[in-house]
Amino acid sequence: MSACRCVRPSHQVERNRGSCVSVWISQLASYSHTKTTKKMDNTSVTYNMDCMAFMASLPDNAFDVAIVDPLYGINSPKMKMGGHGKYESTATKCRKARFDQGAGTLKNRVLNTMKCDWDQFPPSEKYFEELFRVSKNQIIFGANYFKLPPTRCIVVWDKVQPWENFSQVEIAWTSFNAPAKLFRQSSRGGANLEKKIHPTQKPIALYKFLIEKFCKSGDSILDTHLGSGSSRIAAFLTGHNFVGVEIDKQYFEAQEERFAAVKSQKEYLDKFDL
Ligand SMILES: C[S@@+](CC[C@H](N)C(=O)[O-])C[C@H]1O[C@@H](n2cnc3c(N)ncnc32)[C@H](O)[C@@H]1O
Repeated sequence: MSACRCVRPSHQVERNRGSCVSVWISQLASYSHTKTTKKMDNTSVTYNMDCMAFMASLPDNAFDVAIVDPLYGINSPKMKMGGHGKYESTATKCRKARFDQGAGTLKNRVLNTMKCDWDQFPPSEKYFEELFRVSKNQIIFGANYFKLPPTRCIVVWDKVQPWENFSQVEIAWTSFNAPAKLFRQSSRGGANLEKKIHPTQKPIALYKFLIEKFCKSGDSILDTHLGSGSSRIAAFLTGHNFVGVEIDKQYFEAQEERFAAVKSQKEYLDKFDL
């Protein structure tokens, strides 16, 4: 039996999705780590820890698809968008937004100090080795920064932003043998009115697009660099089992809060069939 079947018993997926999810989650929990925070609900598990340590505990092919957005090594949270540096960096804006939400409460003081200096180095070769070992297929953002093999299928995210001194697109490498794809949505304003809780937060709609294009029903998804949790929310909205790992405690707690809000909103709408 392959390691993946052990983690996600595929024969149960179509027949009884509810019970399959709990079986999958409880089996996954056996790869638990004592020195970390682990949060679980009935479709997702998140770990506040280093993804290298997490992946080291997994069998080969544990996940169907890894959708990851690792560090590019370009100090992106501190970049200033447009105007030759006259505008504030996303990191500064995030901090201020948190401050404006009610500075003075303990929670906001803590979040106000969120670290934005993690994007100094790209991931090691060992990271990619492990990623390819623990997942059957991969979608990797930052494709233009990493040494990855040639592929037929890249995904281009057109951020619809006019400033030429800042990336106007992001490129994801995929392991899929499919035509290259284009997703177009502004990373700020316009169609993307999501509240920012992370300096390099990607839209939920982008992850939904990727899941709908590349994941089959019942596929399990891994995100090794969870950040704001947009990938987790998209997996939840599309009904996929999901595991996310985030090393930073503040980002981890912030995405837990964001996820809980989305989840309760969806449960409310579902309850009244809205
Ligand atoms: C580029 S951001 C991900 C942004 C995410 N895609 C989003 O939409 O919000 C990378 C994240 O990985 C986290 N990180 C950095 N090194 C890590 C590691 N070794 N293990 C797990 N998370 C890590 C950082 O704290 C940061 O939140």
